[in-house]
Amino acid sequence: MKNNLKILSFLMVLVVAAACNRYKNDPGHTFFPDMSYSRAYETYTTNPVFTDGFTMRLPAEGAIARGTMPYPYKAKSFDEQVKAGLELVNPIVVSEQVLAEGKAQYEIFCISCHGELGKGDGHLYTSKLFPAKPTSLVEPYVQNKPDGEIYHVITMGSISGLMGSHSSQVLPQNRWKIIHYVRSLAR
Ligand code: HEC
Repeated sequence: MKNNLKILSFLMVLVVAAACNRYKNDPGHTFFPDMSYSRAYETYTTNPVFTDGFTMRLPAEGAIARGTMPYPYKAKSFDEQVKAGLELVNPIVVSEQVLAEGKAQYEIFCISCHGELGKGDGHLYTSKLFPAKPTSLVEPYVQNKPDGEIYHVITMGSISGLMGSHSSQVLPQNRWKIIHYVRSLAR
């Protein structure tokens, strides 16, 4: 009996010792490889499941990202710009704070072309870095447009495309604040 125990414990030490090896990074034998190693396809790898071979999929058609609103008016169209002007309403009520925030946004996104006082004499134009003359924002041509039209220009760019879309830079609520500020420049 005592001998049996000795042999047993000796065998156990052998088994445990056999599990050791010099390769510290080797996890040893994997019992369930498909559970240890993910079988999911990595985002940027090719994929045999889809006909186009991409793993990363486009959102379903018509999907709307959280916190965003689809913008229904098309770029570079006079009619669409006028329509936006007739239908969109500035949701922000003007106040001292709104004007201050609009000014701050204007000075980040518009001043370089349209100038400090909105006269179309921003640094990018006067230094000839930007070749197209920016429209004066304080003349009746712009001031007589409804807020929605100016919003459309900021969102989609000008009809000719000389001024590009600012929709990826300026948040919708900040576009409306900029418009309040541009109105205050003309006063
Ligand atoms: C890179 C220079 C540039 C920047 C930045 C820029 N604009 Fe313009 N903008 C222009 C040019 C150039 C025009 C004239 C485009 C044309 O006639 O098609 C213009 C035209 C306009 C017009 C008149 C569009 C029309 O219907 O004729 C408005 C309004 C306007 N910009 C507002 C803004 C506001 C607000 C910002 C800031 C969010 C801004 N722009 C930023 C260059 C710029």
